Amino acid sequence: MTASSTSAQSVDRLAPWAFAAFVEANTHDTAYRPPVVDGPVGPTIVRNGRELVNFASISFLDLDRHVPARRHFAEAAIAHGLSTSGSRMTQGICRPHQVLEETIARHTGKERAISFATGLLANIGFVHAMSSSAYFDTGIEVRNRDTVFVVDRDVHWSIWKGLEGLGYGRNVHAFRHNDVADLAAILGRIQSRKTVVIAESIYSADGTMGPIVEILDECDRHGAVSMIDDANGFMVYGAENRPYAREAVAIRERADFVMVSLSKAIGLEGGAIAGPAAAIDAFELLSGTSMFTAAIQPPTAYLADRTIDVLADHPEIVDDYLAHAARLRRQMHAIGTMTTPTESYMLSVPIGADAAALQMREWFVEDGYLVPVFSYPAVSRNQALLRLFPHAGHTEAQMDGFLRTLLIYRRRLGL
Ligand SMILES: Cc1ncc(COP(=O)(O)O)c(C=O)c1O
Repeated sequence: MTASSTSAQSVDRLAPWAFAAFVEANTHDTAYRPPVVDGPVGPTIVRNGRELVNFASISFLDLDRHVPARRHFAEAAIAHGLSTSGSRMTQGICRPHQVLEETIARHTGKERAISFATGLLANIGFVHAMSSSAYFDTGIEVRNRDTVFVVDRDVHWSIWKGLEGLGYGRNVHAFRHNDVADLAAILGRIQSRKTVVIAESIYSADGTMGPIVEILDECDRHGAVSMIDDANGFMVYGAENRPYAREAVAIRERADFVMVSLSKAIGLEGGAIAGPAAAIDAFELLSGTSMFTAAIQPPTAYLADRTIDVLADHPEIVDDYLAHAARLRRQMHAIGTMTTPTESYMLSVPIGADAAALQMREWFVEDGYLVPVFSYPAVSRNQALLRLFPHAGHTEAQMDGFLRTLLIYRRRLGL
């Protein structure tokens, strides 16, 4: 049988899934045929052979300037190997993971931390661990299928994925985005000894900073366990001179659990859940996503630990970056471009019509800028936004060029 006849048969068999029609109907062609990137991604990116000023990079600190990352990585690859080559349960945990987990626990102010290959797996594992049942021959059991989760409606996909199948309206409730009164009303209605509230520090779609102190107050009032997804805030907020200091202190001192991602400020890949020792120990077995899949690669775990130390010892790296992001926000406001009304480093620019936002994205690429657009289905229909990550390595000329270009498009589209 030839390759083309196999493929024709596959197309017939897959018809009920409607994949072809789905792809055709979607205007995000790049989501299905992603452009190919050459070389390292930073303030600029080379996509399909073309260099663009990059506002899409979620690792935004230009750490190459401060940490000899590739050398550390190479040294760790030689010392610890490239893979854990087995699970923590069967073989044990590699030294770099053990050190990294201690470092994350220390920086989040929690007793212990457990690492996962990604932040997404940490979130799914957390929800699974808090809502699963298991029985041991010795008669010891956990029965937690009755856990009730109350989550901000806009939490990350990974939390919603973990919650899937738990019974919306019974074991899962969502409060309106950043709406503490709605959270309080739901907590007031729930009759459960085991309630877990999940919120984010910085929401990745709209860039808003969650009202964490008030959320933790409600958790205290109703005896609920709190979990803050700090993927976007880890190692960025916390110091008193920075925005969001009060919230960052509350996450450290009052949240029961914190999730961190290593793919944002740390510029690598991996994630962790930090919290009380007994719970984190139980998560080794109960999360599933720690035991049944691969871990962070050892050199990455090693480098993550080094990078966290560098950021802690050199606060000016993040201070300078936050000042840089704040300057861009001010400049946008000065040309009449509104952004989400919080002081986070992520800048979301409401555009509205999906077609206008997608048109802008194309024009930006033609003019040499990569500017991510969130449109339906990532956000509600015709509530499209530009979601920018300023990069610490962007030059003045790149920022000015971007602002001028944005203004031209807004005028052209009458926005
Ligand atoms: C709020 C939030 N949670 C979780 C994740 C997933 O983290 P990771 O990229 O480490 O899988 C992200 C990343 O987009 C995020 O923004």
